[in-house]
This record gives sequence, structure tokens and C-alpha cells, in this order.
Amino acid sequence: MTKLRNDLLLRTLRGESTERTPVWMMRQAGRYLPDYIKLRKQYSFFERCQTPELAAEITIQPVEQIGVDAAIIFSDILVVPQAMGMEVQLIESKGPFLPEPIKTANDLERLLIPDVEERLGYVFQALRLTKKHLDGRVPLIGFAGAPWTLLCYMVQGQGSKTFDGAKAFCYTQPHTAHRLLQMITDTTIAYLKGQVRAGADVIQIFDSWGGLLSPEDFENFSLSYIRQIVAALKDEVLTIVFAKGAWHSLAEMAATGAHGLGIDWCIRPQVARQMAGDKVALQGNFDPAKLLSPIPVIKKEVTAMLDAFSGYPHVANLGHGILPDVPVDHAKAFVETVKEYKHKGVLIK
Ligand code: CP3
Repeated sequence: MTKLRNDLLLRTLRGESTERTPVWMMRQAGRYLPDYIKLRKQYSFFERCQTPELAAEITIQPVEQIGVDAAIIFSDILVVPQAMGMEVQLIESKGPFLPEPIKTANDLERLLIPDVEERLGYVFQALRLTKKHLDGRVPLIGFAGAPWTLLCYMVQGQGSKTFDGAKAFCYTQPHTAHRLLQMITDTTIAYLKGQVRAGADVIQIFDSWGGLLSPEDFENFSLSYIRQIVAALKDEVLTIVFAKGAWHSLAEMAATGAHGLGIDWCIRPQVARQMAGDKVALQGNFDPAKLLSPIPVIKKEVTAMLDAFSGYPHVANLGHGILPDVPVDHAKAFVETVKEYKHKGVLIK
């Protein structure tokens, strides 16, 4: 195994003090990079995901072009519902579309808990190839969607601002919802363990729609499954839980034993720290739309963000994915400002 030359992210997640704050950006691979947009013209989305050489190339682009301290494997959270037997389409400029969503208990009969090597082996191959090409430059992050966020797409059948169809399913057929969530959880644990075997140094769980639920429903339909996933992984790999908007449950999320918690820009870092306690690293929380500001404004605001997180382990990141229309030099300014920041050191171990 090649030794990592830049392990800032790993040390920060372990709660160790580092010479500077590590930085990466959610959804950094793809979306806004001109070289990615060229590849998009040649191959369909799932072709890009399923061809390890392409996935590896896209994964490494932001490391070479933007200078981030970690790579995140190019794939999608929806490869899991696909592997469980659902058809998933990606419609240009509209997003995901699942033509036969889950509506009743009968529909669960169409789903399977797959052999992950057989159905998702291409992701593992992409991770192995990326590790080889990275050659120890930076750590590699693997990921999966949280069961609740995957249920949202599997039941709603497409993106939504409210996912009320998915919520209605949970509230009217809770028994079926829990069966589905458990099937997704079992698949996800096997899938993420496969990613770790293939070389992922860190695993992030994306609960993009966790913030749509009340604190009680978040515990019931989301966190109880995230907890199982973290418990299954945390002794073999570093883990980050990002449940967008679910700041009310930061203490409970910290108690899962995850090494890092992602937060968005709607909570002050100091408040998040109070809620999460001082054991866990916090990741975030720059408003992605702020990367559309003039570069001097970006620099000033990133510095203010770093000040607000200082004193405790922090992974600089956006509070959600980078937007497709962010100019490349603005993304670079974000990363460079973090790298130039005079680190005030970490107070706790
Ligand atoms: O971080 C990375 O850059 C790695 C790749 C990655 C993708 N999707 C590639 C992608 C990751 C980590 C994801 C996660 C993902 N996918 C999430 C969770 C994170 C978040 O942003 O909330 C969600 C909810 C999805 C589902 C999904 N996939 C949507 C809503 C869309 C369409 C719109 C969009 O770009 O978000 C996708 C398609 C998708 N996944 C694209 C990319 C680069 C765009 C399609 C294209 O480029 O052709």
C-alpha cells in the first residue's frame, strides 16, 4: 500500500492536530469542470460511472486542477437502487427519474439485496484504479446515500423540493417503509465494506433530504439506519455523516461514533460545535452560492468561516454540493484561501 503524502483529512478526522485545515468540496468531481463537461458530451452518465477508467479520470480532475486535499470517487448515490433492481434514468437538465417507483408492500417483491461484487463491482474497480493513479497524493473518499435519502427517490420516483410522496408513504405505510429502509441499509453496509476493501480511506454518508423530517421522524426514518451503517464501519474506516438541514440532531449524530459531521451554512459553526461536543470533526459549511461572489469576497468570507471553526478539528468544505455554474477560478480561490489561512492549532485531542 502506497503511503499517503497528504493525510491532513485523515488526521483531522482522527481528532489529531494538523499544520493546516484540509479542504475538499462536495460534488467536486463533475458538474463545473470544463474537462468533465467535454466527457459528458461523449458518454452517458451511467457509462461514465460504470467505466472505471472514466470514473478514475473524473475523480482525479479536481485534485490536479483545483488542488483539493481529497478525492471523492465519481459515482452516484442512485447506483444502489439500481443494483437493488430499480430502473434509474438521468434526464439531462431534469435529474433522476425512476419510472417504476415503490408504492406498496407488493413492490418490495421486485427488489433484492444484491451481491455487491456482482452488481456494483464496477465501483470497486473504479476505486482500485483511482487509488493506483492517485499514487498516495491524497486520500480517497467513498460514499453512499443515507437510506432515507434513497427511499425519497425510490418512492417519489424523481427529485422534489418536499418529497411529500415519500413522506406520505412513510406515514401511511410505516411497516413497509421500515422494511424498505432495512433492505437499503443491509445493501449499503455490504456496498461500503466493499468500497473499503477496494481502498476507500474515508466513507461519507449523504443524507441530502434528512432536513425535511422533524427531529422525531429523522430519528425514526433516518438516523436509526445511519447508526447501523456507522456501527458496521467505524472500526475499519473513517466515517463522515452529512445530513443536510438536520442540525437539530447533531448531538445524536455525534453519538453514533462517526468521525466527522457535515453541516450546512444555516447553522453557526460555534453553535454546531456546542451541540456536537468536542470529540467529532465538523465539516463545512460555506454556502455554495457564495462561490458566485467576486473572488475578494470569497476570500474574506472563507477566512471568516475558518475563524468561526477554529480551535477544534475542522474539514473545510461547502455546506452542500458545488453548483454547476461556478467559475473554476472561484473554486480555486476557495481552496487556496483555506491553504493560506494561518492555522491557530487544535485545542483538543
Ligand atoms: O462528489 C462528487 O463529485 C462525486 C460524484 C457524485 C455525484 N453524485 C455525481 C453526479 C456524488 C457524491 C453524488 C451524490 C448525490 N447524487 C447526491 C447527494 C449529494 C447532494 O448533492 O445532495 C444526490 C442527492 C444525488 C442524486 C442526483 N444525481 C441528482 C439530484 C442528480 C442531478 C442533478 C445534479 O447534478 O445534482 C444526479 C446526477 C449527477 N450525479 C451528476 C453528477 C456529476 C450530474 C449529471 C451529469 O453531469 O450528467
